[in-house]
Amino acid sequence: MSATVSITLPHDLVSVLGATTAGSRADLPRAGRTDGPARVVIDLDLPGATISRHVYGHFAEHLGHCIYGGFFVGEDSEIPNTRGIRQDVVEALRALRIPNLRWPGGCFADEYHWKDGIGPRAQRPRMVNSHWGDVVEDNSFGTHEFMDLVEMRGTDAYISGNVGSGTVQEMSEWIEYLTRADDSPMAALRRQNGREEPWTVPFSGIGNESWGCGGNMRPEDYVALARQYSTFVREHAGNRLTRIAAGANNDDYAWTEALMRSADGGRAPWQAISLHHYTSTGPASVSRGSATEFSEEEWYLALSRATRTEEPIARHSTVMDRYDPERSIGLVLDEWGTWWDVEPGTNPGFLYQQNTVRDSLVAALHFDGFHRHADRLVMTNIAQTVNVLQAMILTDPDSGALVLTPTYHVFAMNAGHQDASALAAYLLLPEEPEVVDGRALPRVSASASLAADGGSALVSLSNLDASAPRTLVLDLRGREVTGYEATVLTGETTAAHNDPDHPDAVAPAPLTSVVAHERGLEATLPPHSFATVRLELG
Ligand code: AHR
Repeated sequence: MSATVSITLPHDLVSVLGATTAGSRADLPRAGRTDGPARVVIDLDLPGATISRHVYGHFAEHLGHCIYGGFFVGEDSEIPNTRGIRQDVVEALRALRIPNLRWPGGCFADEYHWKDGIGPRAQRPRMVNSHWGDVVEDNSFGTHEFMDLVEMRGTDAYISGNVGSGTVQEMSEWIEYLTRADDSPMAALRRQNGREEPWTVPFSGIGNESWGCGGNMRPEDYVALARQYSTFVREHAGNRLTRIAAGANNDDYAWTEALMRSADGGRAPWQAISLHHYTSTGPASVSRGSATEFSEEEWYLALSRATRTEEPIARHSTVMDRYDPERSIGLVLDEWGTWWDVEPGTNPGFLYQQNTVRDSLVAALHFDGFHRHADRLVMTNIAQTVNVLQAMILTDPDSGALVLTPTYHVFAMNAGHQDASALAAYLLLPEEPEVVDGRALPRVSASASLAADGGSALVSLSNLDASAPRTLVLDLRGREVTGYEATVLTGETTAAHNDPDHPDAVAPAPLTSVVAHERGLEATLPPHSFATVRLELG
């Protein structure tokens, strides 16, 4: 749906937070009270930090059916494939404009030896994937297959290297193999395996969760190793690298402190630090909660937990600010998303879970927070793209049928935020937000950005109310709005999801309730829904 409205926008008031909230710290208030209807106030002429496209990044691990049966079916499969890579998966991901893909792990990265995954497939050694199902990995998907996938998708490679059980030489040689142009030993080996030209690899991870599955290290031990490994991950043939040090788990600020203390005021041998933060409703030791069977209480609990992700982002950023006020070191949330109990009857080590309207709103809430932290948060990677945790795509192991999840649609609807400038979106609500899990949870969430060419803006809106629709006034200031196009994503229930028999139970549709309003626009969002409004600016 699209229509044209011409609105004169009042310049009488600069929002209390205005430009300063775009990319500001999460502890600043973003919601206030009003006696009138609920409003989202956006100053379209006060752009803030750029939202890196890499904030919409992805993650694919050798885990369950993410790689095997997900991305890769092998050349002999009946499922249409190009050199073993599923064509429908590559095609489906096109709409998401995936900016980068992290591989091969996760925990798997710290037991992966890349030389086992090159050369003729039949001769590649096997290994045990001890973290994920204790299954035998035949290494048929290795470096060449991954880079083939990356090139097919037009995405940037994020190679996660092995610190836990590898060597400095191994990691150094992998980057040489991938990126060196001349006749160096590793470049020659690559050519021997059929690839003449070097690839481009912009991102290199220095271990994964080194505080846990990556080696159970103490911060000081890892810091020393990170300095050493990063030094030998070289830039060959003009390949510019962002080296990403393995960062903290959730709120382990001491870990970030240790890395930053050793960063010599931004002159560390790495350029970014990672962070992992997942969303569940229960403790992992008991039950993380069912993906599809949950009460209204668990609905709000999950959404409240999702808004919490902003807290470690803000606090790790604050630690980083102290040592690196110039913000030359980036924060990378390279694992995030929902983590539920596995679907009944599936391998507990494969982390296969369904994906409902609730997951879509968890994703939307994360993105609203990410946009607010665009100044330090340079990349994120949802875990994981296909068949694992909060996936974009689920494939049926028997029929091979492919289903797009509600989370997929949020990524597609939000794609316009990539490389746009964050705009502060200030909420004014008539009600006091309820406290859920010890934290105020407004039932509306919003974020906005201005396209790089300045000609349009994208507003993301979430109605978190499980059962009531919500009318919102978009109070649009500072620019003339000449047209709009609105899209909504919801399902019949909060647990609605897609499967091969009902692939579009949760799918985007035009939002027809948008009308002109003296302050800008007015939109009514159905219960439990996510919407985007693309504004044409005069
Ligand atoms: O994404 C699944 C796992 O979660 C990753 O392998 C690990 O890094 C994290 O604990």
